[in-house]
Amino acid sequence: MKIAKTIAELKESRRQLQGSVGFVPTMGFLHEGHLSLVRQARAENASVIASIFVNPTQFGPNDDFSAYPRDTERDLALLKKESTDIVFMPEPPEMYPPNARSWVVVDGLTDGLEGGSRPGHFRGVTTIVTKLFNIVEPTRSYFGQKDVQQALVIQKMAQDLNMNLEVIICPTVRETDGLAMSSRNVYLVPEERQAALVLFQSLNLAQQLYSNGERSAERIRREMITLIEHEPRAEIDYVSIADTATLKELDKIGEKALVSLAVKVGKPRLLDNIVLGELI
Ligand code: PAJ
Repeated sequence: MKIAKTIAELKESRRQLQGSVGFVPTMGFLHEGHLSLVRQARAENASVIASIFVNPTQFGPNDDFSAYPRDTERDLALLKKESTDIVFMPEPPEMYPPNARSWVVVDGLTDGLEGGSRPGHFRGVTTIVTKLFNIVEPTRSYFGQKDVQQALVIQKMAQDLNMNLEVIICPTVRETDGLAMSSRNVYLVPEERQAALVLFQSLNLAQQLYSNGERSAERIRREMITLIEHEPRAEIDYVSIADTATLKELDKIGEKALVSLAVKVGKPRLLDNIVLGELI
C-alpha cells in the first residue's frame, strides 16, 4: 500500500495503476461504514484509492473541526487489510494554498436539511470532492447513504458538470442495535449511546406507519417527533420527509420518500435516514 502526502506523489503512484480505479474519500477515524465502501470499491475495480483528509472548508465556525477524531495509524492498518492500493493523505495547505479563489456550488439541493442547518457546508464538500476527483481521476467513487444529501448532491454535481466517473451510493452500515455507524459516535457517553437509538427507532416507526398504509407526511413526521421528544437527552434539529429527487418536503407520500433526521444527543449531532418504498 502506497501512501501519498502530496498531489505530485499521488499522481505518480496513480500513473502506475492499470485498469479501473475505485475511489473512497473519507475524513478518517474509519469504521465498518467506511470499510464497506472500500470493499465495494475493491470488488468492482482493478485498483482502490482511499483518501483521508479532514476538510476544513466543510466545517462551520461552531462545528468540531479541531476536535474531529483522528487516528491515522489505525486507519492505515485497516485500509491495508482491505487491500487498498494507495492512500492519499494531504495536509490542508496542499489542498488549499493561500491564493486559491475557486469554489464548486450545487444550487437547490443544498438549501434544506444539512444545508439549512450548516450554511456553507456543502460548498466545502463539493469543492473538496471535485478537487479529489480531479487529482485521483477515478473510474468510480463510493459514498454512503448514511450522508444521503451529500451523496445526492455529489451525484448531481458529477452529472451537471460532466465529470468523467460514476458516483455510487452504498447502504448505511449499522451497529447490531441499529445505530448508524459514525466517527462522531465516540463522543457519546454510555447513557447518550443508549439515547441515540431513538433515531433508528423513529425511522422504524415511520417505516411501520408507511407499511400500514399511512401516506400523510405530516402525520408520520409528528409521530416521529413525539417519539424522539420522549428521550430527554435528544434534541431535534430536523425531521424531514422529502422527495428523493428534489429533497423538498412532501405533504403526501407517493411511491417513494426520503425520511431523514438530525438529532443532537449530548455533544454530537447525529444523522440517519431511510427511503420509504424501498427495502431497508
Ligand atoms: P466521512 O464522514 O469520513 O465519510 C466518508 C464516507 O463514508 C461518506 O461517503 C459517508 O457517507 C460514508 N459513511 C459514513 N458512515 C457510514 C455508514 N454508517 N454506512 C455507510 N457509509 C458511511 O463524508 C465525508 O467523510 C466527507 O464529507 C467527504 C465526502 C470525505 C468530503 O470531505
